Amino acid sequence: MIRSAILLALFCSAAHPQDQAAKLAYGKYLAVEVSKCVNCHTPVTDSGALDETKLMKGKVMEVQPIDTIEHWHKTSPDITPSGKLWKKWGGAQSMVQYLMTGLTPAGKPAGPPMPAYQLKKADAEAIVAYLNSLP
Ligand code: HEC
Repeated sequence: MIRSAILLALFCSAAHPQDQAAKLAYGKYLAVEVSKCVNCHTPVTDSGALDETKLMKGKVMEVQPIDTIEHWHKTSPDITPSGKLWKKWGGAQSMVQYLMTGLTPAGKPAGPPMPAYQLKKADAEAIVAYLNSLP
């Protein structure tokens, strides 16, 4: 009995880092390949490639609407944990809520061209875990 408890404890402590790594990898996949946060929130280098040293640090958008779109934003913010937004929003939980509801902590809808995502909790949490792993 005690031995199985010890084995279980060992198994859990060993499994945890793997779960975390899988969650980060999944979050990265969602942010980079599925929702493409990375394209809108990362500046590009002179050659037009994403600047990997400034992942998700925000930028001046290189696209503009042909017709007027109300509340169009010319810039995207820094969405890394060291950016102003995380401090203003009080951390990861608000970011998760935003991705689940499309609403900021103040109840404001996402402004175009930022999509109003309504993601599942697990997906939103995985994306935010990935963002949280960035410098
Ligand atoms: C099509 C381009 C585009 C994509 C894709 C995109 N964003 Fe944005 N995002 C923007 C722009 C532009 C803004 C500024 C508009 C605003 O603040 O509402 C913004 C704003 C935000 C904000 C701040 C909102 C606010 O009101 O201050 C957060 C947080 C955010 N994006 C996170 C994400 C995440 C996470 C993803 C991927 C799951 C993502 N964005 C995908 C363009 C984009």
